[in-house]
Amino acid sequence: MKIMVVGGGGREHAIIRKLKENPSIEKIYALPGNGGIAQDAECVAIGAKDIDGIVDFAMKNGIEFAVVAPDDPLALGAVDRLEEKGIPCFGPRQNAALIESSKAFAKDLMKKYSIPTAAYETFDDMDKALAYVKTAPLPIVVKADGLALGKGVLICQTREEAEEAVRSMMESRVFGDSGARVVIEEFLEGPEVSVLSFTDGETIVPMISSMDHKRALDGDQGLNTGGMGTIAPNPFYTEGVAKRCMEEIFLPTIRAMKAEGRPFKGCLYFGLMVTKDGPKVIEYNCRFGDPETQVVLPLLKSDLFTIMRAVSQGRLSEVPVEFSDEAACCLIIASGGYPAHYEKGKEIVVTDTAKLSQAQVFHAGTALKDGKLVTSGGRVLGLTCTAPTLAEAVAKAYDAAKGITFEGAYHRGDIGARALKKN
Ligand code: AMP
Ligand code: GLY
Repeated sequence: MKIMVVGGGGREHAIIRKLKENPSIEKIYALPGNGGIAQDAECVAIGAKDIDGIVDFAMKNGIEFAVVAPDDPLALGAVDRLEEKGIPCFGPRQNAALIESSKAFAKDLMKKYSIPTAAYETFDDMDKALAYVKTAPLPIVVKADGLALGKGVLICQTREEAEEAVRSMMESRVFGDSGARVVIEEFLEGPEVSVLSFTDGETIVPMISSMDHKRALDGDQGLNTGGMGTIAPNPFYTEGVAKRCMEEIFLPTIRAMKAEGRPFKGCLYFGLMVTKDGPKVIEYNCRFGDPETQVVLPLLKSDLFTIMRAVSQGRLSEVPVEFSDEAACCLIIASGGYPAHYEKGKEIVVTDTAKLSQAQVFHAGTALKDGKLVTSGGRVLGLTCTAPTLAEAVAKAYDAAKGITFEGAYHRGDIGARALKKN
């Protein structure tokens, strides 16, 4: 079996490692992959947004199954185009990917089907948005409608900040066309939980819960990033919360998508907040989370390819999906300056093989240059450790981080701290 994984970050590296456990897979191509993925798959220099290039490659190389991992190609209809050519895919079609690519669509869906989420208003007209923030209760959350690399959300403590946020999105277009429409919503409080799920549009199977750490600096300070580290399972996702999520959020969401003529097949990601009034949806993603995948998949005991194929064939209810009862921690090693300006091309050096070997190393932003591994992105590496307890997994990940470095490397010092306090 020849398969292709579209994408080139830490998430795709974790997916590829797991897929490789299936002996029927002879060959994996990564489009475009990265310097580290090259150790596990054949990287092909076709960008994840080059849909024509992706389809052409799949046809010419006899690809028998495709995993489309990032949001952009899903929103651009990569799965529709591949399926038209008879190539089975893991990932939603374009009309279902809208659950992530339009926040206004997601919010309206939740309102229509009574799925708990923050109260909100949507605006296409800047003057109306500015008038609204003059009276809305503080703090005010302002979101760009479209995809913005996880950065299109501003939490404003004052009215002046909220006005500035609206202007920056709708007038200055700091997030491009993603900001032509904004969603302004109520501020929710409580611990955040990420739940990735497998769904074939009928059956939904939640994976082990996790917690991301989105801010750049310790103590949840600094700018929002794509995610600086994750732990699993998330101790705030108790059995009671899980039961409510299944009844009030997960099942209603897949039924709603089906009723709207947009059946969702693939990985549906629920970004939840456990408020005092119960779990509420902060966001949906139409794909595996990054870096949640780097803790969730190492704990998956069942065969990933078997599950993915069953999802694509609408047979998810027939296959086992089991997780280990261990814990995992993924620590992201980032380039100095990320998520603002940072330099690339720094050589990555292993300083202590024994320490590093405790971790699975997932490459996010690396490239091969003259045979050497160098940095090529903001988030560079993810180090994942598993252990019987969360405390041990976290300690191991921090110890492993002493084994690898590059100029300007930084990581948060408190990944897992909030979860450990709860335990
Ligand atoms: P999103 O891209 O929608 O997931 O938002 C990014 C981050 O902003 C979330 O992970 C939350 O930490 C925060 N956030 C988003 N919406 C809200 C809200 N309504 N109340 C409080 N925090 C929020
Ligand atoms: N870690 C959050 C995301 O993948 O959007």
